[in-house]
Amino acid sequence: MALLIRNADIVNAGSREQADIYVESATITRIGRDLRAPPGTEIVDARGKLVFPGFVDPHVHIYLPFMATFAKDTHETASIAALVGGTTTFIEMCCPNRNDDALEGYQRWKSKADGKSACDYAFHMSVTKFGKETESQLKEIVADGTASFKIFLAYKNFFGIDDGEMFETLELAKRLGVIVTAHCENAELVARLQQKLLAEGKTGPQWHEVSRPESVEADGTGHFAAFLEITGAAGYVVHLSCEKALNAALAAKARGVKLSIESVLPHFLLDKTYAERPGVEGMKHVMSPPLRAKHNQAALWAALASGAVDTVGTDHCPFDLEQKLLGKDSFVSIPNGIPGIEERVNLMYTHGVMRGRLELDRFVDATSTRAARLFGLFPRKGAIAVGSDADIVVYDPHYRGAVSARTQHTNNDYNGFEGMELEGRPSVVTVRGKVQVRDGNFVGERGYGKFLKREATHF
Ligand code: URP
Ligand code: ZN
Ligand code: ZN
Repeated sequence: MALLIRNADIVNAGSREQADIYVESATITRIGRDLRAPPGTEIVDARGKLVFPGFVDPHVHIYLPFMATFAKDTHETASIAALVGGTTTFIEMCCPNRNDDALEGYQRWKSKADGKSACDYAFHMSVTKFGKETESQLKEIVADGTASFKIFLAYKNFFGIDDGEMFETLELAKRLGVIVTAHCENAELVARLQQKLLAEGKTGPQWHEVSRPESVEADGTGHFAAFLEITGAAGYVVHLSCEKALNAALAAKARGVKLSIESVLPHFLLDKTYAERPGVEGMKHVMSPPLRAKHNQAALWAALASGAVDTVGTDHCPFDLEQKLLGKDSFVSIPNGIPGIEERVNLMYTHGVMRGRLELDRFVDATSTRAARLFGLFPRKGAIAVGSDADIVVYDPHYRGAVSARTQHTNNDYNGFEGMELEGRPSVVTVRGKVQVRDGNFVGERGYGKFLKREATHF
């Protein structure tokens, strides 16, 4: 069915326009004033609202065997949570571990999502070892449309790779034109600090940050950048959390290293005092890299506003209270992760745009367009333009509310952002022209989401 969005105040990255938007067969076919539509067309009146391209979350975990358990969401629950919060596309980390076969892992991840996601999705393929078959397997995966890799410098003996494997991965990525995303923490330093702290009887969640200090992340970031510089590959630091790591990344960029930077929702809004709360309250806020000292947030916001930090993801990774309590005797066993797929857009709008930290079009760029560009989805995603998929968020800037676990769609029994104010939320969300959300409720079709095939673009 056709769809007409009337009286739209369209905010794209870099432009703003008052117009109507007409959608046929899942695609935006016309943008202009006073558009006419045939009888039977679904009409949405966007007067008084803002109209954004569907938001893109470049970093989520849904199916994830990790730290002796599994992340809690299914593709059904996570995609509904994403949509209610305005995210119409997510890119999931496909994370087989070092003992898994990469191709089998890739197929397993795809089969988990297939027919279950209500929004569109893609994968970053993790390279967690580089063996004899890796090159041919990765070529097959790229040919299947998964044109970005993920490596972990952290999580020794599980996801983590060594320097030789990182070199092989980046050389291959350079030849294939594929961007490599990386979790940058020095694994050896983390392991040594964890042992030292535990030997001193320091077992609570407050010691998690101490075991992964800012210099551990700055070192990992600089190390990754040095390998990018030598191989000429394009890279993307995920979940950069602090000023020291930011400086390492910016120094590399200044020397011409092809490096993009992502920071994630928790690091903009939560600081390490959350993880220092006693018991399970602290455990809820354990992720890696850890929540940092508050002064880092100003540096991240400023770098985001200027575009030096390219994107905002979530690193959505839900574990419930019972799972968090796996680490009650030792912080090294607390499953790492703070979910946020549902909250990212509204919290960045409220605490970024409404608090004067982010211009509106940069907000769109950071939360949608730039990720679409970096990961080969643009202009299909990340823009309201003729020919783009009709992923449209009609956004109500007058809504007032607060984050609450009681009303969330993510499959979890708490919310790490509990009680935070919301000044705006999506009023209508469409995926390829289909209305999936109205005013905080999922009203659409489960399993409607499609796997997005992407071309390599980083030659
Ligand atoms: O704590 C985190 N970040 N959990 C998810 C796994 C990862 O490192 O991204
Ligand atoms: Zn990570
Ligand atoms: Zn992650």
